[in-house]
Amino acid sequence: MISPTISPIDDTRTEVAMDHLKGLWARGCEFLQCEYAILGGAMTWVSEHNLVAAISNAGGFGILASGAMPADILREEIKKTRSKTKKSFGVNIITLHPQLDDLIQVCIEESISHVVLAGGVPSKQSIEILKKAGVKIICFAPALVLAKRMIQYGADALVIEGNEAGGHIGPVSTSVLAQEILPHIKNVPVFIAGGIGCGDIMVSYLEMGASGCQLGTRFVCATECQAHPDFKKAFMKGAARHAVVSSQIDPRLPVIPVRALHNMATEDFMNFQREMIKRVDDGLLGLSEAQMEIEHFWAGSLRKAVVDGDIDHGSLMAGQSVGFVKKEASVQEIMNELLGQAWRILGSRASYS
Ligand SMILES: Cc1cc2nc3c(=O)[nH]c(=O)nc-3n(C[C@H](O)[C@H](O)[C@H](O)COP(=O)(O)O)c2cc1C
Repeated sequence: MISPTISPIDDTRTEVAMDHLKGLWARGCEFLQCEYAILGGAMTWVSEHNLVAAISNAGGFGILASGAMPADILREEIKKTRSKTKKSFGVNIITLHPQLDDLIQVCIEESISHVVLAGGVPSKQSIEILKKAGVKIICFAPALVLAKRMIQYGADALVIEGNEAGGHIGPVSTSVLAQEILPHIKNVPVFIAGGIGCGDIMVSYLEMGASGCQLGTRFVCATECQAHPDFKKAFMKGAARHAVVSSQIDPRLPVIPVRALHNMATEDFMNFQREMIKRVDDGLLGLSEAQMEIEHFWAGSLRKAVVDGDIDHGSLMAGQSVGFVKKEASVQEIMNELLGQAWRILGSRASYS
């Protein structure tokens, strides 16, 4: 058991708080088969076996990011994760992956208990294949109507991710999505993601009916995370206001919104868009070709930052909760901090005196 750093409340209050938290996320813990319903949100290039195993070993629920991995590498990552933890963990698959069926097959063959289907609305067929194999499926729900559709398709749980989150995001904030969706979805566990920096807000979402919370940004500077030291330094220096959404200049050329720390690449992307717009206006480039160029601009850029440490030209995907990342710390320490904050807020309630 983690020793809580709750002060100044007494032992009785601490125990009451711990029991209360246990009750609040019991459904999430039961579903995920873990001690604390804190999911380590999959982050491409970041959430590899070391970080995933560390999160699960600390009582949370680690999720491997398969990103653009080919199927054989995913199989290796799963095996490496298993060599580091006996606890349960999940695999995140991007539904637009060209080898989607192969990745799903690897998860089934490797007896993965939970798969998160991300990056667009998953097909009914993908869900059915996984369900038939007994895999629990977690889907993203960026609106109530989609939440209901995902459940109809067979999703066993949902993640609501607001636009405070790092990486690819939707237009609506976490707090608004939580108000929109939580009161209406009772038949499956719902996990909240985006902008969660401390235990206090986790308690609020649990009290609103969530079964747990998913955090990405807070785990990037974990000691166990293999991201390049310069990538981590950028997070430690970053404030909430530096984690900005990629801007679109011309409605004819849509930009997929991504939240990342502002750097040289952010400016280069704006200049690149201006150049594409000029070439379209001058009749030198068709709209669809220009669109393709814009979509390709960021290809490989997350790897450049996370793996190579090129924090000027790579993509520094990060959520607004980056302001809570102050130093490198072990996953266990990060979990202790989040749990301590949650226990403190619950333990300090007048009703416990
Ligand atoms: C660097 C980075 C990469 C990410 N990659 C993925 C991904 O591959 N698949 C996915 O579903 N979400 C991805 N996310 C989102 C996280 O899984 C998680 O939901 C999000 O970080 C939660 O919000 P937070 O950053 O405010 O904690 C990524 C986020 C970051 C910061």
